[in-house]
Amino acid sequence: MEKPSKIAPAKGKLGILLPGMGAVSTTFMAGVELVRKGKSQPVGSLTQMGTIRLGKRTDARSPLIKKFVPLAELSDLTFGGWDIFKDNAYQSAAKAGVLNPQDLEKVKPFLSTIKPMKAAFDRDFVKLIDGPNIKKGKNKYELALQIKEDIANFRKTSRASRLVTCWCGSTESFVKPEDVHSTPEKFVEAMQSNHPAIAPSMLYAWASVTSGVPYANGSPNLSVDIPAIQQLAHDHNVAICGKDFKTGQTLLKTVLAPAFKARMLGLDGWFSTNILGNRDGEVLEDPGSFKTKEESKLSVLEYILQPQLYPQLYGKMHHKVRINYYPPRGDNKEGWDNIDIFGWLGYPMQIKVDFLCRDSILAAPIVLDLVLFLDLAQRAGMRGIQEWLSFYFKSPMTAPGLYPEHDLFIQSMKLKNTLRWMKGEDLITHLGQEYYD
Ligand SMILES: NC(=O)c1ccc[n+]([C@@H]2O[C@H](COP(=O)([O-])OP(=O)(O)OC[C@H]3O[C@@H](n4cnc5c(N)ncnc54)[C@H](O)[C@@H]3O)[C@@H](O)[C@H]2O)c1
Repeated sequence: MEKPSKIAPAKGKLGILLPGMGAVSTTFMAGVELVRKGKSQPVGSLTQMGTIRLGKRTDARSPLIKKFVPLAELSDLTFGGWDIFKDNAYQSAAKAGVLNPQDLEKVKPFLSTIKPMKAAFDRDFVKLIDGPNIKKGKNKYELALQIKEDIANFRKTSRASRLVTCWCGSTESFVKPEDVHSTPEKFVEAMQSNHPAIAPSMLYAWASVTSGVPYANGSPNLSVDIPAIQQLAHDHNVAICGKDFKTGQTLLKTVLAPAFKARMLGLDGWFSTNILGNRDGEVLEDPGSFKTKEESKLSVLEYILQPQLYPQLYGKMHHKVRINYYPPRGDNKEGWDNIDIFGWLGYPMQIKVDFLCRDSILAAPIVLDLVLFLDLAQRAGMRGIQEWLSFYFKSPMTAPGLYPEHDLFIQSMKLKNTLRWMKGEDLITHLGQEYYD
């Protein structure tokens, strides 16, 4: 890809479209409004709090990222979304129970105005929930065209100059890429014939991309991760990225596993179990949806530890992931990890991690960063898969034939170097020989 010669300014409003207005979406919107009102801090957001070092370590140039690249201002963000339930964003946030009532009260008037559009939904893909706010149509193609109309209407009514979509809907049943996903033409035919391998999330992805709207995929669903939509992203000059927000347990896995590998410590096994009681947890009780999540969570260690290169250290590791729906915990997930490692002469050791996290509190700043960075990429003319945003995903999308980079620190370096590259600054290699000349 060529270096952007010019990045268009972030002029006017940025409209954010959220398929799925549940825990993550509403925590994100409420948080943006609380920060805009000066009532809270955007903790966890690289675009709002992060700095970037430029030039030599002795140059003392470390501007805020948001001052270095032209990102949309929080005051310019405006929101819309779809859901199968009719609750407005305030009602949905209150049900999700992530934010306390005092915080929600402060943004009640704002959240109450955000009402979900009718969803394109199919119970074959999300078995354990059902709702009344659903589109009707002869076939999946008609539903996708209705989503396109929603996008066009939102563009008009919100008076946004640019739009970005971020899928925050439920995890769908596992779908393997098939022939119908291989080209834009076959994809349209498959929508018209109601092919069972076309999931609702793909309809939103198709509608967004063909409307020229960048698309981020926060769940492990295939969604934009199929050749047909990637081809369309290329043809329509649209930036896309995914998949599955990297929040709690996997975030820690992609920090710890690179440390073991860097020190050549071996791994016999890694057992990860979770209890969570939110709607996401309820959906993941269905084996089809769990399989989609499991695939996304499992791939991480294989890629980081490269057992094919280090058979003595990682050739026999056991990796298991379990998720249990346990309503009393609500959105406050507990993720336990038991890690069996071995060191010098093969002597075994154990590490236990018990992360009492808050799922949506970790996910909301990721949504913010993704929509702002995707909008930046779009204005810089960077089309197709944005691999530099791998930092935010459990299963980063890559060009065909390329293995994904999972190590959080490599991802972070890649992200920051991409920003430097976009602005014509020197890339930072950490070599540093010049300090000793
Ligand atoms: N830390 C995290 O919270 C985290 C991390 C990684 C990924 N995710 C993923 O993000 C997504 C959202 O998580 P959540 O906790 O907000 O879940 P949630 O269940 O609270 O919200 C999802 C919403 O999507 C709606 N929905 C389902 N199918 C839809 C469709 N076809 N069209 C429109 N709306 C639809 C549901 O009604 C629900 O309100 C899930 O796929 C989850 O796996 C979350």
